[in-house]
Amino acid sequence: MQYLVQPGGALRGRLRVPGDKSISHRAVILGALAEGVTEVSGLLEGADVLATIAAFRAMGVQIDGPDDGKLRIQGVGLHGLRAPAKPLDCGNSGTAMRLLAGVLAGQDFPSTLVGDESLHRRPMGRVIDPLQAMGARIASKEGKAPLQIEGTRLHGIDYTLPMASAQVKSAILLAGLYAAGQTCVREPALTRDHSERMLRGFGYEVSQEPLRACLQGGGRLAGQCIDVPADISSATFFLLGATIAPGSDLLLENVGINPTRTGVIEILTRMGARIDLTQLREVGGEAVADIRVRSSQLHGIDIPPRLVPLAIDEFPAIFIAAACAEGQTRVREAEELRVKESDRIAVMAAGLRNLGVLVEETADGARIDGGQIRGGTVDSHGDHRIAMSFAMAALRAEEAIQILDCENVATSFPTFPVLARQAGLDLAQVVS
Ligand code: S3P
Repeated sequence: MQYLVQPGGALRGRLRVPGDKSISHRAVILGALAEGVTEVSGLLEGADVLATIAAFRAMGVQIDGPDDGKLRIQGVGLHGLRAPAKPLDCGNSGTAMRLLAGVLAGQDFPSTLVGDESLHRRPMGRVIDPLQAMGARIASKEGKAPLQIEGTRLHGIDYTLPMASAQVKSAILLAGLYAAGQTCVREPALTRDHSERMLRGFGYEVSQEPLRACLQGGGRLAGQCIDVPADISSATFFLLGATIAPGSDLLLENVGINPTRTGVIEILTRMGARIDLTQLREVGGEAVADIRVRSSQLHGIDIPPRLVPLAIDEFPAIFIAAACAEGQTRVREAEELRVKESDRIAVMAAGLRNLGVLVEETADGARIDGGQIRGGTVDSHGDHRIAMSFAMAALRAEEAIQILDCENVATSFPTFPVLARQAGLDLAQVVS
């Protein structure tokens, strides 16, 4: 499926983007492993989260829904999962595969994790290594999926992550629930802390210091009600679009603004964006706000590396913002972008060049010179966030932008085309 997006226009009105993907995965996982019922509202009904739901159903967990963002999970307790009859298919989702690997390592049954072509290219050694250090037995294809997990007794570790990764941190903490003794994870830079927060919400003690989280194995999780806020990573496409399209004024409602996720707001604001947070509140241990964004002229900046993990999923959009800014924007220490759903540095650079933007790719980032965006064809390489970012680029393009391979937008934001049109983007879906 392709997008054909006509140039120009503005984004106006108010809208609510779907639920946070990271929080939705964790709600399903902890709900399944808890004792008693967990009721979730605002759940993201994207393919990635549906894969996690299907995996737990295949392990005997009764899950009703999702229906209009509502999900009811009959938790089976930490030791109530049953051996799945078939390999568990994580689809396009790195979060599903890595977090499930953590859960499955300590079960008393074997399991296999598979995914799509993109997921089978992504590095899994980063979870296999620490889990093996805890006693796990995991066979892989040279550090990539499929992962065959035997299920063994685990013991706690004190592990220092070699890269800033919330997925790896979370996999280790989930395995730690099953491990004898204490499990600690240190991270080289702050990453999203939804697992730590939600574990505590389920009544599990997690001690947290800056850059370090520890828990003791052998406890219990108690079923909860979870209200998932809108995903700031999905809101980002609208922050971008409204910022770059003259005459825009948009209100995004009920967006999660956990400080480990708001790097994009800081980066865009430093570039000159007009973003205001209102109605700040806390819902189920997560900070939430309404976000107003109005158009403004951006200028290039040198993005501080400490903000990279706090905006890790937002770089496709930030690259487009940079292309619309006056002067040069520099992205560095962002090599993790190369192992996302696609190599986001290479794919963004190629796409921007097709649209006439000057980009110099570096090993760990890029230098982007702002200027005029022409029109043309861009290949998203099946990467949802790249497809949505280039769709918004059309607001400032001279001619239409055709974007190839857009099916995977449904992994994180199935309603994107509808909401984008509602806000003012002239986007057509073309089945090729
Ligand atoms: C996620 C963590 C990030 C992010 C991904 C979701 C999570 O990945 O890119 O979309 O839910 O923990 P890494 O932890 O590998 O950086």
